[in-house]
Amino acid sequence: MKTMRNILTVAGKGKLAMDKWVVHRSVFLLCSGISLAFQNSLIPDGKHFDSLPTCQNNNNISSSSYMKERIVELANDPHMVDWMKKIRRQIHENPELAFEEFETSKLIRQQLDQMGISYRWPVARTGVVATLGSGSSPFVALRADMDALPIQEMAEWGHKSKVDGKMHACGHDAHSAMLLGAARILKQLQDTLQGTVVLIFQPAEEQGQGGRDMIAEGVLDNVDAIFGLHTVHRYPTGVVASRPGEFLAGCGSFKVKIIGKGGHAAIPQDSIDPILAASTAVISLQNIVSREIDPLDSQVVSVAMIHGGTAFNFIPEFATIEGTFRAFSKKSFNALRERIKEVIEAQAAVYRCSSEINFTGTEHLTIPPTVNDARIYEHVRRVSIDILGEGNVELAPSFMGSEDFAFYLENVPGSFLFLGIRNERIGSIYQPHSPYFTIDEDVFPVGASIYAAFAHSYLSNSTRILNSFD
Ligand SMILES: *[C@@H]1O[C@H](CO)[C@@H](O)[C@H](O)[C@H]1NC(C)=O
Ligand SMILES: *[C@@H]1O[C@H](CO)[C@@H](O)[C@H](O)[C@H]1NC(C)=O
Ligand SMILES: *[C@@H]1O[C@H](CO)[C@@H](O)[C@H](O)[C@H]1NC(C)=O
Ligand SMILES: [Zn+2]
Ligand SMILES: [Zn+2]
Repeated sequence: MKTMRNILTVAGKGKLAMDKWVVHRSVFLLCSGISLAFQNSLIPDGKHFDSLPTCQNNNNISSSSYMKERIVELANDPHMVDWMKKIRRQIHENPELAFEEFETSKLIRQQLDQMGISYRWPVARTGVVATLGSGSSPFVALRADMDALPIQEMAEWGHKSKVDGKMHACGHDAHSAMLLGAARILKQLQDTLQGTVVLIFQPAEEQGQGGRDMIAEGVLDNVDAIFGLHTVHRYPTGVVASRPGEFLAGCGSFKVKIIGKGGHAAIPQDSIDPILAASTAVISLQNIVSREIDPLDSQVVSVAMIHGGTAFNFIPEFATIEGTFRAFSKKSFNALRERIKEVIEAQAAVYRCSSEINFTGTEHLTIPPTVNDARIYEHVRRVSIDILGEGNVELAPSFMGSEDFAFYLENVPGSFLFLGIRNERIGSIYQPHSPYFTIDEDVFPVGASIYAAFAHSYLSNSTRILNSFD
């Protein structure tokens, strides 16, 4: 399959990037406007093509194209919907925790095998990375997560978790099912893909480590843009929301050891007191947000653990403190982390102690803020409007939660989307991580079509999208 891209000037209406889809020797041109006219047209290299359609007169890039209608039709096909439900319910009944998603991963691979979609596995232990399309650039990635939570399901329904103490209480079962739905749609449109779609099924989102490990294994190599979504109860089913730029907070934690010198509490001059140093460090940490930060830039530092000593009359060798910090912008987040380190080191030094600070680790991973690329965000918004209508696409406020999708966004431009699943009628009202968490399964065709439409239209518009804000 060949791809040609040209910039044509149409009737004084400005420049339009046009993409030609060359399929089975016939030439399709999907215009960014409504009206198509077949006429002889001059390609810039001087060649004439008969019957080459060109856009007549408008640059309405949010209007529906043929492929989007086809995508929506495929997503809503009753067989497709039932198939996605079946997969989701199977995953829901057999929840697996972070990095233990062996059966989930196997189920996903079986479905990909049946569709004839090739994949790489294992990536980051249980992850699966499938590809379809031309095999050449541009590359666009779609991501879903697979892990469940150590929560006992309390919701009573036909496909309740069969594993005690484990539950899909964050909707990752639905994310995986919808991404498989998108795979099936895109497979049927394979010949029209003007590049390569990379489908990322990642482990361990809840630990904040799966995405990072997938990236370390090269899943973003060649990838130009990425899209991910999360089901939320804040919006009703059929409504989606996101925002450009800073969307979700960065979440970090720190573990500090303040080291002094032990000794009898009655002879303080012979010891170096880490309890005093830890105490003043805690107080000084509270002054960062209150005295150094713009009150309009929301940030949090909390020390939530403090340990030291074993006897009332013995000054211990060391004391430890642990806490968490949050911020919305990458700049604020990094600056806050830097100040936490400086304050602790300086306070320890004032009292002649040394200090050791860890910001990361398997239990205490730092997740950066989720920052959407404005161009990709805008593309997702347009695609969502095409599928759901303008009234169902909202601008989300920034949100204090964190997502390990942030790691992908640190490496490639992309955008994250909230996919509404609130439906009072069926009790789909509980917050993520609630033991009563319920998904409105009517969301599946919505999620699958947005995933698929984003990837499909990104590949035919990538040059225009990436240049749109330059
Ligand atoms: C992407 O490009 C196609 C083909 O040129 C066009 O029909 C469609 O409207 C474009 N979509 C967006 C969101 O730009
Ligand atoms: C662009 O397309 C949308 C959706 O089809 C339509 O509602 C709107 O009127 C169009 N705008 C222009 C300027 O043609
Ligand atoms: C910091 O991490 C290192 C390496 O994992 C470890 O040896 C050390 O004990 C940790 N210190 C604290 C205070 O957590
Ligand atoms: Zn979660
Ligand atoms: Zn989640």
